[in-house]
Amino acid sequence: MAGALADWAAKAAHQLSPRTGGEADARPRHIAIIMDGNGRWATARGMPRAFGHSAGVQALRNTVEAAGDLGIEVLTVYAFSTENWRRPPDEIEALFGLLRGFIRSDLTRLDRAGVRIRVLGEREGVPADILTLMDQAEKQTEGNTIMTLVIAFNYGGQAEIARATQEIARQAAAGLIDPETIGPDTIAQFLPSRDWPNPDLVIRTSGEQRLSNFLIWQSAYAEFLVFDTLWPDFGRPQLEEALQVFAKRNRRYGGV
Ligand code: IPE
Ligand code: IPE
Ligand code: MG
Repeated sequence: MAGALADWAAKAAHQLSPRTGGEADARPRHIAIIMDGNGRWATARGMPRAFGHSAGVQALRNTVEAAGDLGIEVLTVYAFSTENWRRPPDEIEALFGLLRGFIRSDLTRLDRAGVRIRVLGEREGVPADILTLMDQAEKQTEGNTIMTLVIAFNYGGQAEIARATQEIARQAAAGLIDPETIGPDTIAQFLPSRDWPNPDLVIRTSGEQRLSNFLIWQSAYAEFLVFDTLWPDFGRPQLEEALQVFAKRNRRYGGV
């Protein structure tokens, strides 16, 4: 392979597989979870959907703790999508209230455990007091290194890519970027997720087999694993099972 093609190949290989193969790949550095099934969990118990969301917060606590113990570097959780605005206002209110409550009640504990909190998503539409809490959580935990917990809230993969594209276009118009040089690396550098590795494993609970606009750029080569378990029932045993399944996967990145 000559010149530009070889350069591009080397870059692509680097971006898709930040680690060299072998044993190191047996454990995912970054796990991303689509926490789905709270509504069905509540309905099955004859309870309102908000009851399921509330139970989901405890599942989140259990999962964060287990991920830390299992040596996961980054855990991203999908808590509210840009499409979840289609839900009834009282359910949206309940979800916002739970995030508010989670940060208030868990920030100190997470901080002490060495967890760094980052938030992904559109700020527009999120109540001001929640934005303040999120900023505070990010700031307070910014020096922590045990694990990064990324909360995807009011998050949509397409919106995120559109935003990055806007900024790239702005810089190109200002003469700061040569359009000819724009490639996958450029786009990745303009996404807020530039600070951590791409997910190695995306988990979705509740049996649904779709991405629902979650990390669509970053998950290009993630392994995908669906659990029938509804999110409120997810926890350490399921995460351990996920790691076992992941270790047996053969990631090829388009190679042989
Ligand atoms: C996931 O559970 C939580 C969020 C989307 C915030 P759902 O509320 O989607 O639960 P189901 O899919 O209706 O069971
Ligand atoms: C995805 O779940 C969003 C979150 C888990 C936050 P949804 O329940 O909203 O997804 P769809 O509508 O079934 O695709
Ligand atoms: Mg759902």
